[in-house]
Amino acid sequence: MLAIIGGSGLTTLSNLDVSHREVVRTPYGEPSGALVFGQICGKPAVFLPRHGYGHTIPPHKVNYRANLWALHHHKVSGIISVASVGGIRADLHPGDIVLPHQIIDYTWGRQSTFFDGVATPVTHIDFTEPYDADLRRRIEQAGEALSVDIKVGGVYAATQGPRLESAAEIDRLERDGADLVGMTGMPEAALARELALPYAAINVVANHGAGRGSSVNGIRFESLEHVLQEAMGRVRSVIEKVVGCQDNCLPMGLSV
Ligand code: HPA
Repeated sequence: MLAIIGGSGLTTLSNLDVSHREVVRTPYGEPSGALVFGQICGKPAVFLPRHGYGHTIPPHKVNYRANLWALHHHKVSGIISVASVGGIRADLHPGDIVLPHQIIDYTWGRQSTFFDGVATPVTHIDFTEPYDADLRRRIEQAGEALSVDIKVGGVYAATQGPRLESAAEIDRLERDGADLVGMTGMPEAALARELALPYAAINVVANHGAGRGSSVNGIRFESLEHVLQEAMGRVRSVIEKVVGCQDNCLPMGLSV
């Protein structure tokens, strides 16, 4: 059973035929919300909105450990993390879908490990390739099969937020080698690896990074909301395909 963690723009998964919800208690506290179990085209899947159902939990307050622990507890086979980002690389524009392959972590003060030395021996996970190769391939192939354009490869910079970056910070991130910037990719990816859960991210460019392109005079998400919503529609169809929907699969609620 695949898990989907939704971010801004994807707080519900409308193509999930819901069977039940479960509030999972974890040793790390409360996850962002109840896990929503169901089927997509008859295939089991579980959904969790990272920022809560009312989109009230800011990136630095998300209980990443509880979220990941809850999904692990339910023995998910992998996690597709969906999150909106700012585009730094020149070819990234609002509405683009990106499949990142690397991460740079600029976050601080977050509970970022299960191996905090309290009950477990010191453990160093390998994080050379932060995203799961097989899951990334499946996402890429789903995009190809659907003719949904996915930009494959990108270095994701995880910033602390919740404020957006200054123009100089975006320039610095670019000099560091970052292509896109978001606030939730870490410690989520590292915690998934600590639990040996295959994890890949689908990022949707919501805006140009601060000081660039349409954000040269500031970032106004409101004007880009419709772009994000349209792109999330494409992301939903990619997720359906990865979960295993056939070509004749109809969106929920439609029948022949
Ligand atoms: N910066 C950080 N996180 C983001 C952005 C951004 O410009 N856009 C969407 N999430």
